[in-house]
Amino acid sequence: MKSGYNIAVIPGDGIGREVVPEAIRVLEAAGRRFGLQFQWKFFDWSCETYLQTGKMMPTDGLQQLRTFDAIFLGAVGHPEVPDHVSLWGLLIPIRRGFQQYVNLRPVRHLPGIVSPLRDAAPGRIDFCVVRENNEGEYSNIGGRLFENTDAELVVQESVFTRRGCDRILRYAFQLAATRKRHVTSATKSNGIVFTMPYWDERFAHVAKEFPGIRTDEYHIDILTAHFVRHPEWFDVVVGSNLFGDILSDLGPAIAGSIGIAPSANLNPEGEFPSMFEPVHGSAPDIAGQGIANPIGQIWSGAMMLAHLGHAQAAATLERAIESALAGEGPKTPDIGGSASTAELGDAIAQAVGKIAVPELDSARRPEESRAT
Ligand code: NAI
Ligand code: MG
Repeated sequence: MKSGYNIAVIPGDGIGREVVPEAIRVLEAAGRRFGLQFQWKFFDWSCETYLQTGKMMPTDGLQQLRTFDAIFLGAVGHPEVPDHVSLWGLLIPIRRGFQQYVNLRPVRHLPGIVSPLRDAAPGRIDFCVVRENNEGEYSNIGGRLFENTDAELVVQESVFTRRGCDRILRYAFQLAATRKRHVTSATKSNGIVFTMPYWDERFAHVAKEFPGIRTDEYHIDILTAHFVRHPEWFDVVVGSNLFGDILSDLGPAIAGSIGIAPSANLNPEGEFPSMFEPVHGSAPDIAGQGIANPIGQIWSGAMMLAHLGHAQAAATLERAIESALAGEGPKTPDIGGSASTAELGDAIAQAVGKIAVPELDSARRPEESRAT
């Protein structure tokens, strides 16, 4: 198996620049343990660059990234740059240009982390949000008419294609087949009368290919309530771009902190590089203080290892996160401690070097390696 990897690193803005170095430190430790070599190539594509050059990334940005084995991204976003500029100037072109149509966001309540739910216990919250990542509500089809008049009119179209729905739904079922064999669909086919009944129809169609998998569907409004009241009901939750986005912030919030949540933007066919980034943003409110939780970024690194085919290294990294959290070790303020980003990163890197390597069949398999 291949052991040397070229990784494109885009730290981005705010705490992205603080958590990415910690994740690299941990991945280097995993590399030493498992015989993997990483070549990190840094790209200074960010809102700061935008403020100087007017571009989030160069015109040939995608071509520059095309040949890498994976992309490792921190976060982009800056108070002086409108959020739609940063998102549409960097993340969305990469997700779409590279057909990263799966946004996989595991949610797990880790030992040592306090959930805001009164009766949460590790094991009760353990599911994956599978978010459609290429189409849906996040489209650039629409416009304004009669601007700055009383007749001002704004239209934004949602786009749901048969190919787009079927491939994300199929991925969700394949993932569930390696987990608790249950898929929940997020819908809103009562209020949104064209696209959502279509989504339900494709869900029913794809479900027929997987007779051994239980299914449920809920409208997004009550589904958010069930996330809080009955998180143990869920295994794989599949949703459109918007619904998946909302559910994948709510999920980590009930599991204790948005700062621990990882994500993978996957091109499952491997025609293009996939991209790994935490769920959280650039957190301008705490940027520059060195107190951001690096776990979301580090766990995203574990998902990258799994995607590159190193399931055991990935499982060890996940176990190292758990072992660093479980004891009296350093914790960042968002999870009730007073440690710095670097102290927590260092504790996890140390753990990667010395904990027992989990047996893959008895250990939890890293999410990403299950579905391919
Ligand atoms: P955010 O995730 O940056 O922050 C939300 C809250 O969670 C803040 O109070 C923040 O301090 C806290 N938080 C987030 N990550 C944390 C961590 N690792 N450790 C400790 N606390 C953490 O979301 P927000 O405030 O909505 O967005 C801020 C900027 O980030 C905006 O410009 C937004 O567009 C951008 N953004 C970028 C994303 C990306 O690059 N993928 C994703 C989400 C937001
Ligand atoms: Mg989001």
